[in-house]
Amino acid sequence: MPNNNNHLIDIDTLDDSDLNRLLDRACALAGGAGPLALDRTVANLFFEPSTRTRISFELAACRLGMRVINIELAHSSATKGESLEDTVATVAAMGVDCIVLRHSENGRCRELAHTRSGGPCLINAGEGIEAHPSQALLDAATLKARGIDFGRLRLAIIGDVRHSRVAASGLQLWQRLGVEQLRLAGPDGMMPDGEPASGIQYCRRLEEAVRDVDVIMMLRVQRERMDQSGWPEPGAYFDQWGLKPEHLDLARPGCMVMHPGPINRGMEIAAEVADGDRSIILDQVRMGVFMRMAIFEWVFG
Ligand code: NCD
Repeated sequence: MPNNNNHLIDIDTLDDSDLNRLLDRACALAGGAGPLALDRTVANLFFEPSTRTRISFELAACRLGMRVINIELAHSSATKGESLEDTVATVAAMGVDCIVLRHSENGRCRELAHTRSGGPCLINAGEGIEAHPSQALLDAATLKARGIDFGRLRLAIIGDVRHSRVAASGLQLWQRLGVEQLRLAGPDGMMPDGEPASGIQYCRRLEEAVRDVDVIMMLRVQRERMDQSGWPEPGAYFDQWGLKPEHLDLARPGCMVMHPGPINRGMEIAAEVADGDRSIILDQVRMGVFMRMAIFEWVFG
């Protein structure tokens, strides 16, 4: 069956109406709206480890009645030297309608979308350090479902911002949604190079970043993306950059704690905070399935 070639490449490839449609639809599905039935086949093509993102896409596809094929790198012809383009063309030739791709290199989804017009829909499930649009969208939907007014939202994103594709896509999205304040904080070497873009504030300390915010989003230190010399000692990192219960008192009353997962307790977040009543980390996971359902519905028009 031909598809209309909607791809989810990153936040910048979505126009405002697509963006709002995805957020609204995910919230509606989370609120009990009936899903579409999609007679389609999706292949999950994951060239990097993943727990929640892969399972979330798989569950979302199952709830829409789609057929799902999971292709793990270790068992694919990529180990025999096949290029990503050839793997995608091969899977497409077998009648797969949609490919959910996770890859370690920046820009692969965008390149594939340009070179393979008329092929399967592509969904970026996280690539390199630049893009993880479904995570950014599910994070925003998690807040929207809680009735948050983005125009009055103060948000702090803390940790390894430089290597985080969640932060990269998130920054685009939060700015598009017009949040009131967007603060970034992390150790030297984990912050982006150069001056902050307009509308973004860099903070030198965690305490400064969380003061009077509504949402604190913690990031994992992306060990696999930095050379060992850049890897901090966990205890020292936790002392300076780990979110602890006392920090929540600096934020606005009722502040919420987010984390895209996987979390490292005792490194970027204290266990009491991750499991505490301010944490909405598992809400993010729950919304992830609804957002991915909304994404499948959207890519197929
Ligand atoms: C993130 C990822 O893989 O980019 N996790 C996720 O998809 N939920 C963040 C991370 O790995 O730290």
